[in-house]
Amino acid sequence: MKTKIFETTKNDIEEASRLIQNGEVVAFPTETVYGLGADATNESAIKKVFVAKGRPADNPLIMTVADAAQLDEFVTISDQARGLMDHFWPGSLTIILPIKPGKVSMLVTGGLQTVAFRLPANDAARTLIRVAGVPIVGPSANTSGKPSPTTAQHVWHDMQNKIAGIVDDGPTQVGVESTVVDMSISTPIILRPGAVTQPQLEEVLQMKVIDATSTESVASNVTPKAPGMKYRHYAPDKNVVMFDELDALELKQVLAPNDVVMAKDDMIEKMALTNHQAWSLGNTLETATEQLFAGLRFYDDDSQITTIYVQKMPPIGIGKAFNNRLGKAAGNQEFQN
Ligand code: TXA
Ligand code: MG
Repeated sequence: MKTKIFETTKNDIEEASRLIQNGEVVAFPTETVYGLGADATNESAIKKVFVAKGRPADNPLIMTVADAAQLDEFVTISDQARGLMDHFWPGSLTIILPIKPGKVSMLVTGGLQTVAFRLPANDAARTLIRVAGVPIVGPSANTSGKPSPTTAQHVWHDMQNKIAGIVDDGPTQVGVESTVVDMSISTPIILRPGAVTQPQLEEVLQMKVIDATSTESVASNVTPKAPGMKYRHYAPDKNVVMFDELDALELKQVLAPNDVVMAKDDMIEKMALTNHQAWSLGNTLETATEQLFAGLRFYDDDSQITTIYVQKMPPIGIGKAFNNRLGKAAGNQEFQN
């Protein structure tokens, strides 16, 4: 299959929507990462998504919508969940809700009684879904296990000739996947940290939200229900190691010629690294998060490189999401001197 590249013009998006209507798979931009779109009501189309990604069948898919009214057919929405939608949609929040029996394909839910919904803040994505006239499944558009794609070129790298098309809307803004919050139970649980944070959710809900990915929750035995969590994620083939800013100068001492560093600009300066040794994570938590997967993907494709050292971020705001993805990419390996 020859993968067609679409721009975000009206004509191109309409053509891409027709491919979706015809049961084909088209990658689409969102503000977080690129997704793999297919008609969420068409089982043969959904199967193609699992094949293209090489994704295990028991790992459920997100349903992506253009309008909150598209949910009513499939799920029951509590007042609390409605409040989150009103406040955070369109945006980087995926909400897990109980399904109306028989309304959602087992291929989407992986056999669970719940389904995850997201309404992205990207005009091209919403137009694509609106014109297609159906919700689309929307897993990240990477090969299963690899870092999520933040550019159409990353999608092309993993999906060329495996899917019908890619809608190219340039680099994504956030750089890591949406926050996933489970609203199907009485106490909301964050299953994946993202740009929408635990304090923000608690403020809107006016109730306690548990972060299943924080060390305190793991210690207190909250069992996470995200089936995806048991799989290897975001993992380049290269050796990835995290480092703390306090250890930067020690790291510099032992850096081998085939090692590279991903760090914020002030850190690159402090360590006196050359352009060849360093990938800039910019100046802020936001730029670092936006650049994380791009840097990992860049070095993963460079046969000269042995180890990628990546600076950890302070665990505040989106820093939690950054450290969560970095920890998975590094298999939690930390630089010790
Ligand atoms: O930002 C995003 O959310 C991106 C863009 C493309 O929208 N999509 C994305 O989808 O990251 P995916 O499939 O790569 O990650 C969704 C995560 C998986 O870990 C999956 O296991 C979990 O959400 N998930 C999906 N449905 C679930 C459910 N019903 N219960 C628990 N976890 C669920
Ligand atoms: Mg994914």
